[in-house]
Amino acid sequence: MEPDRASLLAALALQLDWGAEEALEEAPPDRSVRRAPAAPEPPQRAMPAAGPGTRPVAVRTPAAAPGPAAASRAAEAAAAAGTLDALRDAIAAFDGSALRETATNLVFSDGDPASGLLLIGEAPGAEEDRLGRPFVGQSGQLLDRMLASIGLSREAGGFAITNILPWRPPGNRTPTDAEIALFLPFVLRHIALVRPRHVVLLGATAARALLRTKEGITRLRGRWHRIKVEGLGEAPALATLHPAYLLRTPAAKRDAWADLLMLRRTLDGAPPES
Ligand code: URA
Repeated sequence: MEPDRASLLAALALQLDWGAEEALEEAPPDRSVRRAPAAPEPPQRAMPAAGPGTRPVAVRTPAAAPGPAAASRAAEAAAAAGTLDALRDAIAAFDGSALRETATNLVFSDGDPASGLLLIGEAPGAEEDRLGRPFVGQSGQLLDRMLASIGLSREAGGFAITNILPWRPPGNRTPTDAEIALFLPFVLRHIALVRPRHVVLLGATAARALLRTKEGITRLRGRWHRIKVEGLGEAPALATLHPAYLLRTPAAKRDAWADLLMLRRTLDGAPPES
């Protein structure tokens, strides 16, 4: 019997509850059908030299696995980008990470790069991936409201915003150390091209990556650090809590508010408090 619409929708809702929110295959597999175990793969044989009677075989090139080669290609591509547009193109063309294969859109940056203030988060979520803009989902909306309370608006060009990873990790999982290291040259180049007077590091991933430490965000937050950026020198960077954490832990908003007031004081001319 064909399942009716209501039971199909209920099955879909159940999958969403379980966190299966990504369609990674072209066609939906019917997992309710039991299949016989697959026959073992025949051993791989060397491809015969092309000749009469051999058919050309379409070979799909796999995405290059992250490794030393991918890391040096990332560093080279980042260093060669002379403008933000070139940097965006270089990231879009960079095939050293499997994240590019599962994401929908590149999420590069938003806001005004000439504002003097650059905010750096972790990685795009589902909404950012869908729209190709950073911090437009629930945590981005909270962030915009928090920043508005100290007089900073994205629309009015008060800041620019980007992420450590430009592609959404499947299912919003935490970025791996290898992914963070791979994309770091692009982030550093982004900072060098924007030349911000102040940087805000949103959450542990951005703070640890750019401050090159394993220390927790609760110890790093609430003070100004200095980040070293080739082609720029040093930039003052304030570490604070990630808005997604604030959504889960409303009591932490008190600390985030103290950090925002610290940011406001520095933007108004006070020396960065460390
Ligand atoms: N969280 C992030 O760190 N970045 C985004 O763009 C959205 C959510």
